Amino acid sequence: MASKLHSIFSMLLLLLTLSDSIVLIVSLGVGINYGQIANDLPSPSGVANLLGSLNISRVKLYDADPNVLSAFANSNIDFVIGLGNEYLLNMTDPLKAQNWIELNVQPFITHTKISCITVGNEILTGNDTQLKSYLLPAMQTVYGALQNLGLSKQVYVTTAHSLGILGNSFPPSSGTFRPDLAEYIEPILNFHSLANSPFLINAYPFFAYKDNPGQVPLDYVLFQPNSGTIDPVTNLNYNNMLYAQIDAVYSSMKAMGHTDIEVKISETGWPSKGDPDEAGATLQNAELYNGNLLRLIEERQGTPANPSVPIDVYVFALFNEDLKPGPASERNYGLYYPNGTPVYNIGLQQGNLPQMIINSAPKINGVSQSWENFHYRHFVLRNAKFCFPPVDQGNYVFVLHRIHYR
Ligand SMILES: *[C@@H]1O[C@H](CO)[C@@H](O)[C@H](O)[C@H]1NC(C)=O
Ligand SMILES: *[C@@H]1O[C@H](CO)[C@@H](O)[C@H](O)[C@H]1NC(C)=O
Ligand SMILES: *[C@@H]1O[C@H](CO)[C@@H](O)[C@H](O)[C@H]1NC(C)=O
Repeated sequence: MASKLHSIFSMLLLLLTLSDSIVLIVSLGVGINYGQIANDLPSPSGVANLLGSLNISRVKLYDADPNVLSAFANSNIDFVIGLGNEYLLNMTDPLKAQNWIELNVQPFITHTKISCITVGNEILTGNDTQLKSYLLPAMQTVYGALQNLGLSKQVYVTTAHSLGILGNSFPPSSGTFRPDLAEYIEPILNFHSLANSPFLINAYPFFAYKDNPGQVPLDYVLFQPNSGTIDPVTNLNYNNMLYAQIDAVYSSMKAMGHTDIEVKISETGWPSKGDPDEAGATLQNAELYNGNLLRLIEERQGTPANPSVPIDVYVFALFNEDLKPGPASERNYGLYYPNGTPVYNIGLQQGNLPQMIINSAPKINGVSQSWENFHYRHFVLRNAKFCFPPVDQGNYVFVLHRIHYR
C-alpha cells in the first residue's frame, strides 16, 4: 500500500514536473517592447487587451510605469522593467536603490509578474564616461537591494547593450568586445555569472543594411532563403545576420572566459518607413523581417553555434512612437499605429494582425489564431511575390553602430 501510494505520488510528481517544464517551454514565445515616446498611444488597459488577443505574454518597458503595471494586474504577462540612464548615479546608493524597488516593484509584483530589471540602456556605447563607471555598481546595488527584500531569485538584474560594444563581429567565432570597453565588460560578465542573469543585446541588422545596401544582401538580413555565408573557423553556415550577431556575442564572452551566460535579444526590429536616404526601410521589408523572425521563434530555433538554445527575443516595437527624434525610421518600428490599426496589412485581404479594440472590449472573438494567420499569409505572400534567387555572398563587413534615441 505504502509503495503503491509512493508510486502514485512519484507519478504525480513526474507529471507535475513534466507539465511544469512543458509550460516553461511552450510559454517562451515572442516578447515585445512597449515603448511610450509618443503622445497618442492608447490606454494601458487597451494595450492589455491587445496583447491578450495577440497571445503575447512577455513585455519590455523602458521604465516602471505604474499605470502600465497596474493595468496588467492578473494578466499573466511577464514584464521586463527598466531603470533609465538618468537613475544610474542614484542606484549606486543602497538606500536609494532599495527605496526605488519598494516604490516601483514591491507594490505591483504580487499581481503583475516582473521578472527582470534592466539598469540603463546602451550605456557603454554612449559617450558619458561617468555613466559607464556607474553601470556595474548600480547593477550590483540594485541586486543587493533585491536580495535584502527577498526578490533576487524572482527578478533578475541586467542591462541592455548595443552591438556597438563589439570590436570584431565577423566571422562569428572570432567575435570580440571593443578593447576600450573590456575594463567595463569583464566585471559585468562576472556579475552576470554570480547573479545568474542574461546578457542583453539590441541587435538591428537593418543598420548594417542601411549603411551598406550595396554589399549586404537583403535576403541575408531579412531571414529570406539564401545560401548563407560560412564561418571559416567553425565551418558553420550562417544564413541570417541576426544569428551571426548573437554568436559573435557568445564568442566575445568566451574570449573573456565565460560560457555560462545566456544571450538574449532585448530589441530587434525593422522600420516600415524611413527617410529617402534610409535604404531598406519599407513596409515589405519590415513585414518580412518580423514575420520571418516570428516563425524562427515559433520553431524554437537556436543559432548555428548554440542550436539547442532557442533565440529569446523582444521585438521592437509594439507601436510607432511619434515623439522619437532622429531619422524617420525611428518613429516607424511599430507593429501598430497608435490608433490600433496594424501597420502590416497592406495588399492583403485581411490584416495580418487583428485590429486593436481600444476601449477595453471584454472579449475579442476569433483572433486567438492571429499569429498563425500572420505566418500563413506571410508564406503565401513570400512564395508568390518574393522569390528571390539565392545570392552568392562573400564576407562582408558588419556595420553595427546605431545611435539610440531614448
Ligand atoms: C498562445 O501561445 C502559447 C505559447 O506561447 C501556445 O501554447 C498557445 O497555443 C497559444 N494560444 C493561442 C490561442 O494561439
Ligand atoms: C536622485 O536623488 C536625488 C536626491 O535624493 C533626487 O533629488 C533626484 O531626483 C534623484 N534622481 C532621479 C533621477 O531620481
Ligand atoms: C555626446 O555628448 C554630447 C555632449 O557632451 C551630446 O550632445 C551628444 O549627443 C552625445 N552623443 C551621443 C551619441 O550620445
